[in-house]
Order: sequence, then structure tokens, then C-alpha cells
Amino acid sequence: MGIDFSKPKTVTPEAIAELNAELAEMSPRAILKFALSNFSNAAISFSGAEDVALIELSHKLTDDLKVFSLDTGRLHPETYRFIDQVRKHYGIDIELMAPNQDKLEAFVKEKGLFSFYEDGHKECCSIRKVRPLRRKLATLDAWITGQRKDQSPGTRSEVAVVELDNANAKEGGILVKFNPLANWSSKEVWDYLRMSEVPTNELHHKGFISIGCEPCTRPVLPNQHEREGRWWWEEETQKECGLHIK
Ligand code: ADX
Ligand code: SF4
Repeated sequence: MGIDFSKPKTVTPEAIAELNAELAEMSPRAILKFALSNFSNAAISFSGAEDVALIELSHKLTDDLKVFSLDTGRLHPETYRFIDQVRKHYGIDIELMAPNQDKLEAFVKEKGLFSFYEDGHKECCSIRKVRPLRRKLATLDAWITGQRKDQSPGTRSEVAVVELDNANAKEGGILVKFNPLANWSSKEVWDYLRMSEVPTNELHHKGFISIGCEPCTRPVLPNQHEREGRWWWEEETQKECGLHIK
């Protein structure tokens, strides 16, 4: 694990692949410890769902935990309440990133509030999620997500524990992305949340597993995969909003 992240030229794809092989053997807590000790400005990207596990795991590792959420304006009331509950529970700031006002107003004026049901979620997600995320990532050298392999057989089966985020890196700079829960199953996350008596989003008690924006998320039936509740009117392979492009 001999990468010197202060020297971007040495942070090559090969070095990251080697680091990934080492970290993949480690626990989520150890991966977070590595991320937080190597990057003073690493931030957790918190969706307001079961990725609260990342906050629980890391709040004792640093006195300066950085957490942000993408406030699309379309989250469930339960999720807004939960984000605030987490803020108070841990005594941390959660930075809420809002969409660009001019772009959002122009988009809604032209297409209304539910255009995604007609022409797909990409445009709305781009304005409400991806651009605000880019704005945040421009201030960071590393970010931490709750992505897991088991969240989507179609799109996430290869999620690495650590990777280079070339799609969102600043020109000439590096951006490292950590996915400490990549190898945990949904059951492991929930065993951990229950054992740690962590607050959870009320929607999980109402049949929701994967949680995104209110108009684009619905509860799933027993034996349905969690991803089937997201953008249910679209094809399996389209069920990514662009936050995690390569
Ligand atoms: S999404 O791309 O389909 O929306 P998903 O809900 O599976 O993502 O969550 C995977 C990870 O993406 C979360 O653990 C979190 O790190 C990040 N993420 C998703 N939505 C948000 C959000 N609104 N704010 C911040 N991070 C988010
Ligand atoms: Fe818009 Fe739906 Fe994407 Fe949320 S998930 S940003 S409401 S298309």
C-alpha cells in the first residue's frame, strides 16, 4: 500500500489495481480508515438510505467527518427527515448540494415536473444530481460511496473497493473513489445497522429497499430485486443516474 497520493503522477491505474487487491481483503472499517488517513478532504456521499452504515463506521475514525447529500428537491419527506436525524444523531454537518437554479427553472419550464416518465431520467438526473455532484467533487481529492456489488447484477457486479474516478476528476488532477461496502451483501449491511442500533430511514419499514427520488422509487415485492423499485419504467441496464459513470 505504498502509494503517495500527494504525487498524482505515481497514482497510476496499475498502482490503484494493486491497492484494490489489497483493500478488497479488508473490512469496510479498515478501508474507511485507509481513505480517511490518506485524504484529509475525503467526503462521504450520503444518499439518506442504508449507506448510513458508512457514517456509523467512520464517525469514530476522525473528528472532521465530511458528508454531503445531493438534494434533488424530489426526495421523500421521510428521507429529508432522516438526513436531519442523522445530522443530529452524530453531531455532524451534512452539506446539501442543490441543483443550479437557472438550469432547473429552464428545464421545468420547458418540460414540467415529470418528463422522465416520457423521455427517460437522464436529463433530470443530470441537472438535479450529476452536475451538483461534479461541483462538489471539484473540491475533493477523494470521495466515498455506499455502492455495493449486490445492488445491481446488471450494472454493479464489478464495483471495486477503490478506483480512479476519471470521469469526475479535475483536469490534470486525480480523484480517488472508495466503495468500502462493495463486498458486503445487503444482509451484512442490515445486520450491522441493527447491531449498532443506528437510526434508519422510515421508508425501509414501508417496503422500500433501494431509495432514490420520490417519483422514481417504489417499494418492491418479496423476491423482487431491490433495483426493480428504481426507474421501473426503464430497462435494467439503464438504471443508473450517472453518478457512478466511468
Ligand atoms: S443511484 O446512482 O442509483 O442513485 P444508489 O441509490 O444505488 O445510487 O446509491 C449508491 C451510492 O451513491 C450511495 O451509497 C451514495 O454514496 C451515492 N448516492 C446516491 N444518491 C445520492 C444522493 N442523493 N446524495 C449523495 N449520494 C448519493
Ligand atoms: Fe429526476 Fe428521478 Fe433522477 Fe430524481 S431520480 S433526479 S426525480 S429523474
